[in-house]
Amino acid sequence: MDDDRYESLSVTRLGTTIIGSRLIIYDEIDSTNERALRLDEDGAVVVADRQTAGRGRHGRAWHSAALKGLWFTVVLKGTPEGLAFAVPLAVRDAIAPITPVHVKWPNDVMANRKKLCGILVEQRGDTIAVGIGLNVNHAREDFPEELVDIATSLFIETGKTYKRSNILREILLSLDARVTQIRQTGSAAMRDEWSDACDIIGKRVQVRDVSGVVTAVDDEGGLVVDTDGRMHHIVFGDVVEVEPA
Ligand code: BTN
Repeated sequence: MDDDRYESLSVTRLGTTIIGSRLIIYDEIDSTNERALRLDEDGAVVVADRQTAGRGRHGRAWHSAALKGLWFTVVLKGTPEGLAFAVPLAVRDAIAPITPVHVKWPNDVMANRKKLCGILVEQRGDTIAVGIGLNVNHAREDFPEELVDIATSLFIETGKTYKRSNILREILLSLDARVTQIRQTGSAAMRDEWSDACDIIGKRVQVRDVSGVVTAVDDEGGLVVDTDGRMHHIVFGDVVEVEPA
């Protein structure tokens, strides 16, 4: 894998309209999301070879093996409207030519039922940090024991290694098109596309002590769950277990 450095991206024109206005590259950082939340530049991208305090959803830590994965955050100004739908779809589309992937509600990108990519969207004032962690060149032994059976990487799925800069470019291009679409026409169409991709309507889910069938996805991407005729709204932050198909 020659020249797997992000610097090669900053000298090439990405051809995007919003995302990639500036590429800020670190060998090591605490969290690309934390850095991004202190920036004020629409479209800036923070990327690091390793994170010492990578953050996951629900206050969890995100394992960021040095030089193995793609750990980056896009800064967007304004509101987070539609990003919950745009980001997983953009990652899915960028990765699909490499290996089959699907979106798992709310925004994990999975391969072979294992987690390939996690997404954490955070907001401070009008600065939105869209954090994406994609496992790229990990072998099984690069994951800690507790993740070995639930996480995967592009290398594990395909037996090939990848230049992280090439994959970053594809995701940025894909995300740029989706963010541009949301800013021009709103997020309703993308919400429907995302809902189809998650394929969760009609599935039985368990959320803490609520068990029922998903009947719809609301405008914010939350689930409407029917428990014997009583409707429950399950918001993004809630943990959901889906009955395997
Ligand atoms: C999840 O829990 O599924 C979300 C994980 C998000 C991880 C990425 S890695 C790059 C960015 N920086 C962080 O600290 N977190 C996100």
